[in-house]
Amino acid sequence: MHLSNKITVIGSGYVGLVTGTCLAEMGNHVLCLDVDPTKIELLQQGGIPIYEPGLDEMVRRNAAAGRLSFTTDVAESVAFGEIQFIAVGTPPDEDGSADLQYVLAAARNIAHHMDGYRVVVDKSTVPVGTADKVKTAMLEVLAERGAALPFSVVSNPEFLKEGAAIEDFMKPDRIIVGAEDEQAIATMRRLYAPFQRNHERILCMDVRSAELTKYAANAMLATRISFMNELANLAETLGADIEWVRKGIGADPRIGYHFLYPGTGYGGSCFPKDVKALVASGREHGHAMRVLNAVEAANDAQKLRLVNKVVARFGEDLSGRRFALWGLAFKPNTDDMREAPSRVIVDELTRRGAEVVAFDPAATDEARRVMGSNPKLAFAADMDSALLGADALLIVTEWKAFRAPDFERIRTSLKQPLIFDGRNLYDPAWLRGEGFEYLAIGR
Ligand SMILES: NC(=O)c1ccc[n+]([C@@H]2O[C@H](COP(=O)([O-])OP(=O)(O)OC[C@H]3O[C@@H](n4cnc5c(N)ncnc54)[C@H](O)[C@@H]3O)[C@@H](O)[C@H]2O)c1
Repeated sequence: MHLSNKITVIGSGYVGLVTGTCLAEMGNHVLCLDVDPTKIELLQQGGIPIYEPGLDEMVRRNAAAGRLSFTTDVAESVAFGEIQFIAVGTPPDEDGSADLQYVLAAARNIAHHMDGYRVVVDKSTVPVGTADKVKTAMLEVLAERGAALPFSVVSNPEFLKEGAAIEDFMKPDRIIVGAEDEQAIATMRRLYAPFQRNHERILCMDVRSAELTKYAANAMLATRISFMNELANLAETLGADIEWVRKGIGADPRIGYHFLYPGTGYGGSCFPKDVKALVASGREHGHAMRVLNAVEAANDAQKLRLVNKVVARFGEDLSGRRFALWGLAFKPNTDDMREAPSRVIVDELTRRGAEVVAFDPAATDEARRVMGSNPKLAFAADMDSALLGADALLIVTEWKAFRAPDFERIRTSLKQPLIFDGRNLYDPAWLRGEGFEYLAIGR
């Protein structure tokens, strides 16, 4: 790495923007590139295109200090950093495999403009073998140019959670670096040294293992959720309470409490696509990923669990019914609507003729963008007004503001005191004692 640390981040979405900003926070000079000019204009004007707690202030502070800037100019971005992070999207292709077109386009751009050594870092979640593809794509472009310039390709998957992205990036559990050459490994060690002053958190490994580690982590977490959802559905039938079961198994240190919450199914930009991509990788190489196929099937079914309860209560035809829905984002503290269970729930309720009035503390604009064409869906300005005149309340995302609501207001605003809780936020015995009909998951 040069004595002055200049880093380029390609792709200024959830991962790229957090990565670039946190690196700038440590004193590095960072240039973030995106192909989306509206995103870059907004960032240049001091706005940010996503909701992520604490990020707007950090972006502004580092931009004002001259350490963080934004561009759509590819030549400028390639010239800027010796380290070039690729943090573009890797959405699922038609067969579920990861679509690498954006990653490879970014790699070719680097090769097209570079004038000296570059460390190309795959931060996007990419299947095993992608680093090789990046290398090949870059060598092809360099050959066309007749330029024999040196570069390294490193795998450095990102483990941040939306909603706690800054904390996760600043204090990572581990930093996975997959690299083959010493120069690149030394560069990555220096780059990440400020993030691990307390103790070493870098795990250096071969590139393929690094690539697979990211998928393995997400697939394991998705598996825990689907496992708990299936168990919750069984507990309901058996007359057991899944919340006691959850605590009972979470206390076992071999199991632990994390990611054992039953609900309306996992969503977001990572678990669904990463599970699909790993299944596709397995298929491609002759391995039937039986567990993960079941994880996905269970999740698809779980997204309809709450609607099935509504149908059991109100009948197949929901025309003339209106439902209040709290929570649109796939999880709290984000505005990310990708693969959010709320989308399936709203589609199914409105397909059956119901109207839905939804409230979300952060995701309303994004929900309007992706679901706004549904004439039976309206958005409320606050949680109380969503309730007015509705047949029931459905809770889909566990935002903090929903955890201790004004139950008296819920009772008086709804046509009847009826809650379908997809996140098990309340005490069933107490609510039922207060005269509520309360239908949750697995209890
Ligand atoms: N979102 C998460 O929580 C998370 C966590 C860990 C890993 N990941 C992975 O990180 C990657 C990025 O995810 P994201 O959620 O940040 O996606 P995103 O869609 O929010 O951001 C990707 C950005 O890349 C831009 N882009 C596409 N092609 C480009 C190019 N050639 N040059 C410059 N910019 C380009 C897009 O315009 C977009 O702004 C994915 O592989 C994802 O799986 C995401």
